[in-house]
Amino acid sequence: MATTRARTSKARTAETLDDSLRQGYTLPAEWYTDAARFRDERARIFRHTWQFVGYSDQLPEGGSYMSARVGDTPLVITRDQAGALHAFVNVCRHRGSELVAQGQPECGQSKTLQCAYHAWTYNLDGTLRAAPGAKDEPDFDLRDYSLFAVPVDTWGPLIFINLDPHAAPLAETLGALPELARAAGAPLATMRRRASHTYDIGANWKVVVDNYLECYHCPVAHKGFTSLIDTSEYTVQEYDWFSVQVGAMKSSAQVEANPNLYAARGEIASGFYAWLWPNFTLNVYPGHGNVSINHFIPATVDHTLVIKDYLFMDTVEADEEADFIRFIEQVQVEDVALCESVQRGLATGYFDQGRLMLCQESALRHFQRLVYEAIHAGE
Ligand code: FES
Ligand SMILES: [Fe+2]
Repeated sequence: MATTRARTSKARTAETLDDSLRQGYTLPAEWYTDAARFRDERARIFRHTWQFVGYSDQLPEGGSYMSARVGDTPLVITRDQAGALHAFVNVCRHRGSELVAQGQPECGQSKTLQCAYHAWTYNLDGTLRAAPGAKDEPDFDLRDYSLFAVPVDTWGPLIFINLDPHAAPLAETLGALPELARAAGAPLATMRRRASHTYDIGANWKVVVDNYLECYHCPVAHKGFTSLIDTSEYTVQEYDWFSVQVGAMKSSAQVEANPNLYAARGEIASGFYAWLWPNFTLNVYPGHGNVSINHFIPATVDHTLVIKDYLFMDTVEADEEADFIRFIEQVQVEDVALCESVQRGLATGYFDQGRLMLCQESALRHFQRLVYEAIHAGE
């Protein structure tokens, strides 16, 4: 019965799913609830896109390493003695043990990486340096057993990897985004991460991205946010691989009328909210010297981890920082409830495709079409 209702929705009169997405209908609910789809997305999206893994200050000098994970793939990122960054699958070439083992510190300093199983030892550029007993094996050549490397690249202090060995450089995905972020007040090179909070949301990762990509819900669901940002003059702009939302700060008279508000004082007069395909965002709020980064990590088909990092310039005082974080956390808590409600609704079986309000939700269409195209690439 539920299926019949869903299939009679107007969206299904479109010739193909692609057509219906273009017209402003959403991805079908099943794309948010089906475990097989989720596995497909991991293979076709997350193994072929630039994934944020950390900050360059986690690898401060030659001899630094850190572990990371993208989907099911464990990684180790290193900075070699010459200062170059490398990323490797965190798997020993001998018999497959994890190299930086679970339980070891996630970041550290070492001249080499040594496997805890039989002590094969690797240089930080991934080459195998020594393997006990190697000299007794006549046809064994250390050069044949370097760690499996994956592309690594940076945007300022932000480190990204790509599990696709043939990935185009990160700069091609970023396009104009670094310049737009700098102009919006995010001099990333001079900012430091001071806080990080993780949220476990009971919703598919696309529900979380969808929620990020529009402010149609802001006046309804984020009273604090809309006390600061004028959502009546909000703009949304889509680019090839990212989209940007900009909203000016309300006049100071309106801001000061709200006593619960983060006191945004400084040279930055607009909020700047950038989403980068597929699961990364960078935000600049009005005021001074703040950047917040959201990293949406798909855990299961209906669970997503949101890691929220707060970066500030040194000129931001501790009380400003605390006010700012409290303000953002309120918005986040409100969004968690909204996303979990959507996930429950999508799972009822009564809902197939929703209808976007394109004047305010066009960035969802852009995102959902990228998802569709990634899944159907090559067909
Ligand atoms: S599995 Fe790593 S040394 Fe044997
Ligand atoms: Fe929201």
